[in-house]
Amino acid sequence: MEALITLNITDLNGVKHKVETPVDMGLNLMEAIRLHEIPIKALCGGMALCASCHVILDSHHQLPEMSESEEAMLDDAFLLDIPNSRLSCQLKLTPDLDGLEVRLGESTGN
Ligand code: FES
Repeated sequence: MEALITLNITDLNGVKHKVETPVDMGLNLMEAIRLHEIPIKALCGGMALCASCHVILDSHHQLPEMSESEEAMLDDAFLLDIPNSRLSCQLKLTPDLDGLEVRLGESTGN
């Protein structure tokens, strides 16, 4: 049986997208955003090297702790001071994230 979770993603134009995404494919949040054709730059392809996949968490989900590389990248990009900032490419989708609400950060571009 395919496990699906619902993600609520607000794009840079303020448009809300409610999408269903499988959790059994090993996708991270950036890949799920791309899968649903919501514009996101993600310039480094998910290596935690560019911060252009920046998102802001708007729900109360407990996210996994940041790795040192994610924290360093957000810090370098001056995004760490924006509350609930994360790199979407570093967030692996799990069943716990059902109903997640995020909005794309300004650094993500169109
Ligand atoms: Fe570059 Fe996430 S895609 S840091």
